[in-house]
Amino acid sequence: MWPYQKVLAHRGGGKLAPENTLAALRCGLAHGYRAVEFDVMLARDGVPVVMHDPYLGRTVAGSGNVFDYDADELAGMDAGIWFGKQFQGEPVPLFADFAAFCKANGIWMNIEIKPAPGFELETGKAVAEATRALFTFEIGAGEVAQVPLLSSFSETALAAARDAAPDIARAVLFDAIPRNWRPRVKKLGAVAIHVNHKHLTASLAREVRLAGFGLFCYTVNNPIRAREILAWGVDGFCTDRIDLIGPDFAAAAK
Ligand code: G3P
Ligand code: MG
Repeated sequence: MWPYQKVLAHRGGGKLAPENTLAALRCGLAHGYRAVEFDVMLARDGVPVVMHDPYLGRTVAGSGNVFDYDADELAGMDAGIWFGKQFQGEPVPLFADFAAFCKANGIWMNIEIKPAPGFELETGKAVAEATRALFTFEIGAGEVAQVPLLSSFSETALAAARDAAPDIARAVLFDAIPRNWRPRVKKLGAVAIHVNHKHLTASLAREVRLAGFGLFCYTVNNPIRAREILAWGVDGFCTDRIDLIGPDFAAAAK
């Protein structure tokens, strides 16, 4: 049900480095992490970039939407200085570069498709196609655990990803698991549900697991809570506290 690693660094390196940057990946590596969650959306020219917010202003200085800029313009922007002077000059990564770095360093990826409103279909398609281009061999060889898992809150984006690259596994992101989760997840051919741990209960976890789907939680920063959800049968989770929760936490919690 969950062939992947169980503990992932959220947004690349959790809260220890500027989110969704190569510096975050290097930070995760330094903490022993070989599995990561990060967010991808489209630049104006349709090139996927690694960003969480659909607008500038928080992690990148400036104003306007991400889709107001071409990818090379975004790649010239500083996504590190907001976090700390030592990260000055850390660029907004192109998805292709970020994913290639992960692959080269043996970092497994949960790629969150994060479309700007109105760009759901294009984003799902572009991210799935770009992922397939990088993992053609692993997909063909059936190396399921090596191939990234695509996830999204946008069911439109997931449907587009399914249509573009049916062989790449998908997970549906929910804040809270809705009553009608089964037909929605089945329609998308998804293998797992990703849910906000704050809204998960032991009985819901049991329901999802008994139905044969993987179950993953975001974003778990408290080791006591992490142990609790793992005891409920949750397969994996991402964390901001890679300093507090190690990559082998789930194995050690058994
Ligand atoms: O993929 C799980 C989690 O990252 C969803 O929340 O806002 O951090 O992308 P967010
Ligand atoms: Mg995310």
